[in-house]
Amino acid sequence: MSRPLGLAVVRSAAFAFDTAQDYSDVLGGRASGYSYSRIDNPTASAFAAAVGALEAPGRDDVAAEPFASGMAAISTTLIGHLRAGDHVIAPADCYGGSYSLFRRWLPRLGIETTLLDVTDTSAVRAAVTDRTAMVYAETIANPTLTVPDLTALAGIAHQSGACFVVDSTFASPVVCRPLEHGADLVVHSATKYLGGHADATGGVAVGAPGHLDPVREARIDLGGCLAPDEAFLLHRGLATLDLRLRRQCATAMALAGKLSGHTGVTRVRYPGLASHPQHHHAVRLFAPGLFGSLVTIDVAGGRQAGMAFCDALRTVAVATSLGSVHSKVSHVASTTHRQLDDAALAAADIAAGQVRISVGVEDPGELLADIRQALGTIGG
Ligand SMILES: Cc1ncc(COP(=O)(O)O)c(C=O)c1O
Repeated sequence: MSRPLGLAVVRSAAFAFDTAQDYSDVLGGRASGYSYSRIDNPTASAFAAAVGALEAPGRDDVAAEPFASGMAAISTTLIGHLRAGDHVIAPADCYGGSYSLFRRWLPRLGIETTLLDVTDTSAVRAAVTDRTAMVYAETIANPTLTVPDLTALAGIAHQSGACFVVDSTFASPVVCRPLEHGADLVVHSATKYLGGHADATGGVAVGAPGHLDPVREARIDLGGCLAPDEAFLLHRGLATLDLRLRRQCATAMALAGKLSGHTGVTRVRYPGLASHPQHHHAVRLFAPGLFGSLVTIDVAGGRQAGMAFCDALRTVAVATSLGSVHSKVSHVASTTHRQLDDAALAAADIAAGQVRISVGVEDPGELLADIRQALGTIGG
C-alpha cells in the first residue's frame, strides 16, 4: 500500500453520491461527506484542519474554517457573530480592510464600533456597554507593531459576555497562539506567513465549535470559500512555516538591533527590542525568542528620504503584503496609510519617513548590507 505524500487537489465543484439518501444525509448533516465545494472541499478542509492543529496543538475541541482571503475570514466572522444593535470594540490602528468593515459596512447593518488604542486596557474596559458583543484585536499591529495584552482583553470581553476575536496574521501560530491566551476565535490572512510565498490568497478562522459554528454557517451562505488550488499552495506553505518563521524572526531581531544605533534612522520599532513599549507583553505572549519578522524604521529626513530609501534598496523589494520568503519594504505614509494627512499621521504615531520592512529568508548579512547601502545612498 502507498499513499501520496503531497496533498491531493480535488478540483471539483460538485460531488456525486451512490444514492439519493446519501445525498440527503450529507446535506442534512446526518452523515459526513462532501456535496458542493462552496460548503466543503477536501483540499480546503485539509488546509484549515492543519492550521487548526497549529493554533491549538493536541486540542480536538478546536476546528477551523477555510476562506478565500483574510478579509473573507474577518468579514464572515463579524457577520456570523454580530446583529443589529450590537457594539464592538476594535483597535484604531487595525488593518485597513478591517477598519473599513468597522467604519463603513457594519454601521449599515446597525452595528456600532468603538475604535481605540487596545493596548490601553482601562480605555477598553471603559468602552464596554451592555451591548458589547465583541472585542477585536490584532496580535501585532501594523505599522506601529504594538502588542496588546491579549489575556487582559479576553478577561474584559468575557466579563461582559462578549466574544474575543484576534487577527493573528502578523504573528502566525509559530510566534503566538491567541487561543491559549483567552481568544475565542483566531483569524488569519493566510496570504501572508501561512502560505509564505506570496503566490496564493486565502484566510482561515479557528476556534471551538460554539464560536466557530456561526462563522461556518455564515461562510456557507456568504460564499467566501477557498479554491482547491489555492488551498494546495497554502497547505504546502505550512510545511515550512516553522523553519521560515524562525529564520525570519532571527534576522529581524538582528536587523532591529543593528539599525537601532544607525545615524540614518531616528527610531526602530520591533517587539523584540527592550525599548518597545509592549516588549513585556510580547515576552509573555510569544514563543521564546520569537517576535515576528516586521521591523518598522523611521528614516531620518522625512517623507522624501523614506521613499528614496525604498528606491535605493536592491535585495529588498518595494512591494505590498508581508510574511513571505521575500524581504519587502513599504513607505507607510505614501502606501498603506496614504489616506492620512500629516496631522492624522502624527496622531497615529507614524513618522513621515517611516518604512515597514517585512524580513524574508534571504542571507541576513546581505539584507543588512542592502539596508546600510540604501541609508548611505540617501546620506544616512
Ligand atoms: C493584519 C491583516 N489582516 C487581514 C488582512 C487581509 O488579508 P487578505 O489580503 O488575505 O484578504 C491583511 C492584509 O494585508 C492584514 O495585514
